[in-house]
Amino acid sequence: MSNSTPASMVLDRVLVLEMVRVTEAAAVSASKLIGRGDEKAADAAAVEAMRAALNELAMDGTVVIGEGERDEAPMLFIGEKVGSAIGSGPKIDIALDPLEGTTITAKAGPNALAVLACAEEGNLLNAPDVYMDKLAVGPGYPDGIIDLAKSATDNVKAVAAAKGVAPHEIIVCVLDRPRHADLIAELRALGCGVVLIGDGDVAGVIAVTNPDTTIDLYMGQGGAPEGVLAAAALRCVGGQFNGRLVFRNEDERSRARKWGIADLNKIYTRDELAKGDCIFAATGVTDGSLLKGVKRLRDGLITTHSVVMRASSGTVRWVAGEHRNKS
Ligand code: FBP
Repeated sequence: MSNSTPASMVLDRVLVLEMVRVTEAAAVSASKLIGRGDEKAADAAAVEAMRAALNELAMDGTVVIGEGERDEAPMLFIGEKVGSAIGSGPKIDIALDPLEGTTITAKAGPNALAVLACAEEGNLLNAPDVYMDKLAVGPGYPDGIIDLAKSATDNVKAVAAAKGVAPHEIIVCVLDRPRHADLIAELRALGCGVVLIGDGDVAGVIAVTNPDTTIDLYMGQGGAPEGVLAAAALRCVGGQFNGRLVFRNEDERSRARKWGIADLNKIYTRDELAKGDCIFAATGVTDGSLLKGVKRLRDGLITTHSVVMRASSGTVRWVAGEHRNKS
């Protein structure tokens, strides 16, 4: 396929359903470590399996969000080439988190996922592994209803007014961290319901798009790579997202500049984090609000639940897998 192939065709031909195989492989591998108290082993199992599955795909892939920089991650580091058609296949950028929720998996908690997003080269923000302030709302609201430059109170009031409810009826999902004490106090002062999650803010952000969760907004700081992944998912299913990188020291600032980020205070919209056509795929590792987890049943039967979505078509496919002859 030539480099001039339209983006939609690049993604069409190679990837949409193939990506589920990749997240399935990572989730199945990580599932052996659910509840075993070993975060590193769970992550390593997912990384190795995801890398092997990516390398079977006929593409010229580049990891743009991965396990860290080359000197800190032996596999799936930022910049690593993946795919079986490097130099000849379609050029695809990949943001991945083979195990989103390493602690969750080690403790057998809810909402661990194997997750990735991909897009034509250049369309995913190369976010350094720093924190990101995140604000998300589900679909159906006027454009610009949320604004990270405004206070949590103003955002809650704006969403409440658009929804036709009082601010105290708004439900907000927040990562349960000491750094969010002021945010949580501000939300509680408004009377909002605050859903505190222990980990896993990709699922936390996506929860705003699912009315069954009753979550209206996602707020707070989590990993920047997870922010890009969540933005890619919202590109496919709707909803708005704002993200601003948070730097704790000069080293983090210089890493961001290295990845080409000039304005360190920029508030990114969803479509600036994940542009053009993109695909988002996830497989549940443990049961969660988005997906059921991997089940290892009798006689070697393993079941998986995955979702794969595409921005250009808005198609969302839920994939239930039964696997035999896998370890
Ligand atoms: P890991 O899978 O890398 O452990 O990430 C889990 C997670 O909860 C993310 O979902 C979230 O973005 C990030 O950690 C928050 O970071 P921290 O634990 O430092 O607050």
